[in-house]
Amino acid sequence: GESVTVQELAEKMKKSPADIIKRLMMLGVLATINQEIDADTAGIVAAEYGLEVEVKVELDAEALLTQEAEDDPADLAPRPCVVTVMGHVDHGKTSLLDAIRQTNVTATEAGGITQHIGAYQIEHNNKKITFLDTPGHEAFTAMRARGAQVTDIAILVVAADDGVMPQTVEAINHARAAGVPIIVAINKMDKPDANPDRVKQQLTEYGLVAEEWGGDTVMVPVSAKTRQGIEDLLEMILLVAEMADLKANPKRAGRGTVIEAELDKGRGPVATVLVQNGTLTVGDNVVAGTAWGRVRAMMDYRGRRVKKAVPSMPVEVLGFSEVPQAGDMFYVVPDEKTARSIAEKRANRKREEEFKAAMPRVSLDDLFKQ
Ligand code: GTP
Ligand code: MG
Repeated sequence: GESVTVQELAEKMKKSPADIIKRLMMLGVLATINQEIDADTAGIVAAEYGLEVEVKVELDAEALLTQEAEDDPADLAPRPCVVTVMGHVDHGKTSLLDAIRQTNVTATEAGGITQHIGAYQIEHNNKKITFLDTPGHEAFTAMRARGAQVTDIAILVVAADDGVMPQTVEAINHARAAGVPIIVAINKMDKPDANPDRVKQQLTEYGLVAEEWGGDTVMVPVSAKTRQGIEDLLEMILLVAEMADLKANPKRAGRGTVIEAELDKGRGPVATVLVQNGTLTVGDNVVAGTAWGRVRAMMDYRGRRVKKAVPSMPVEVLGFSEVPQAGDMFYVVPDEKTARSIAEKRANRKREEEFKAAMPRVSLDDLFKQ
């Protein structure tokens, strides 16, 4: 089961650790301030203060979240890097991903405009890379607003014939704010009016100076159309990823971020999630925001059924009670009851907040107006 230390419990309950230790003694449990006590015992102590099961459930969730830092170094294994492709509209983000995957997603997209975030995984030189395609920056902003940090590397796509545009600058700012390394892909090199030097020149104004100009930003000329430079780009991604020494613990309970979600007529709520630590397994009980459920089935990006999803793997998950929101964290909890109560508690809190926000605000001026 899950556990908390006496100290954490005291902080949570706004009591002194000495009080908690005394209560525990009355229950026949001898504990020190740093001692771990299980969720059930914590629940009983909470109940003694009239705080009951609700607190226990919150502690379960909290304990699970704080376990993040407690991975045994021996359990850590290398994980694939997660790459987000960003850039101005029509500069070729989706085409570039297509070229990388050697498939053709653009053709099936309505009007050729990306409708959602796609998540794919490829293999290059026996190393996996996870790619996220973004529709624009709103989704990214929404995720960052929730504190979701999903990407390890940002690929900034700039069309060589168009140069730096407003959303190029936005993307740079987003990547910077997230502290994510940027690799520039100067795309559409096949076009007769392609001018990579102009792009490099423009980017210096935003602090991105190409390596060959004495800076430290990797800039790769590519063409999604002719596949020129794609290999170089993948090499550079793997190089940057290697330096980042990315690791995760596949042995712990799965957790990560909801990348996108929708209600499917036949299958119910469907969520594409990125596993960021641990392993997500069919049958696991999960919570994501106010959604909860038991993982009924999982599909990899090719639509193939999988039983397990390991770190950096994007999967479609069936089994949520409702459609979770993009950017929501998901995590595995010990049982259905816990999943449900955490989600319900959040839903109640959300309703309360919405209710408060909807209440008309009457100022003194209004009252005295006539
Ligand atoms: P949004 O998702 O709408 O922001 O666009 P995007 O950045 O994903 O661009 P997309 O891949 O849809 O490409 C936009 C247009 O540019 C399409 O007509 C592509 O065929 C074209 N295009 C993309 N890459 C290249 C390239 O390397 N060379 C040429 N000539 N055309 C390209
Ligand atoms: Mg696109």
